[in-house]
Amino acid sequence: MSHKVTLIPGDGIGPEVIQATVRILEATGIQFEWESFSAGAEAFEKYKEYIPKELSESIERTRVGLKGPVTTPIGGGFSSINVQLRKQFELFANFRPIRNLPHIPTRYPGIDLIVVRENTEGLYSGIEHEVVPGVVESLKIITEKASTRVSRFAFEYADGLFLRCSRAVSKEYPEITYGEHIVDNTCMQLVMNPYQYDILLMENLYGDILSDLCAGLVGGLGLVPGANFGLECAIFEAVHGSAPDIAGKNIANPTAVLRSALLMLRHLGEEEAALKIRNAIDEVYRDRSKLTRDVGGTAGTSEFADAIIQAMETQKTAV
Ligand code: NAI
Repeated sequence: MSHKVTLIPGDGIGPEVIQATVRILEATGIQFEWESFSAGAEAFEKYKEYIPKELSESIERTRVGLKGPVTTPIGGGFSSINVQLRKQFELFANFRPIRNLPHIPTRYPGIDLIVVRENTEGLYSGIEHEVVPGVVESLKIITEKASTRVSRFAFEYADGLFLRCSRAVSKEYPEITYGEHIVDNTCMQLVMNPYQYDILLMENLYGDILSDLCAGLVGGLGLVPGANFGLECAIFEAVHGSAPDIAGKNIANPTAVLRSALLMLRHLGEEEAALKIRNAIDEVYRDRSKLTRDVGGTAGTSEFADAIIQAMETQKTAV
């Protein structure tokens, strides 16, 4: 069976890491029909729209997107394409699993936590006005509807997680432990003892900031994946941005986008292919000779992708 997926390569390092990921996905033997579109400033040049109608129609059709980062120019009132897409398709829950990879030295081994970020409102509502000349007020919108649906998403996930653990360790498991930490304290707590959390549920801005902090716990932005879930569709994208400082040099780490693609494969029911890629990632990280610069290696983006494909081939022959 072939999967139709809307592909948004994005800009900056986006096309490089997406291309590497697509090559790896195709090497699994699964058939994909990619519907590829630009978004943001690049799309505007071609379609005179930041999110072209064709792109929106494609997501409505496929209901699944794989997306690279899109730059948001600073100032000038340009609103983020990433935020717009999440709002347009009501992708209210941003799901970001934070886990270590083998042999990547970090301050904390064995991290396993999930950031669930509210994805549609807060300061990202983009509502601001000038109160008096020289004073601008930004509104941080929080609604009952959006807060309830993202909380339900996190609790439903937590329920499953704790249930699985409970089967292993105890017949009688208590209800989910719920605690509240204010964001400044949470930053300190995460640095002192990140193991105390399983799931961090946060509104939009804090979820954005703490996602990067958590990425730092496990080796950096080149590693951490993400998924935006709504009721109708899902768009899979890494936590990182377009990294203009390293764009076009074939040095970006595609692991974060690749791991986002793994979440996509699971969403599509392709568990076996996901496992194959996951094992290949572990293998390449264990070996260390084909890692990118951000994690202490010297390999390029495409060389890393070649190594993953090679590791998948070895698994095939080993079976
Ligand atoms: P960034 O995440 O692009 O980069 C931060 C630092 O991490 C840079 O030093 C970069 O080189 C490094 N980095 C990021 N991804 C990497 C990778 N895969 N491999 C190796 N190193 C990596 O954050 P920044 O610089 O604040 O944002 C750049 C642009 O990206 C901005 O326009 C921002 O609005 C946009 N952005 C887009 C996102 C999206 O499309 N979902 C998310 C975050 C930012």
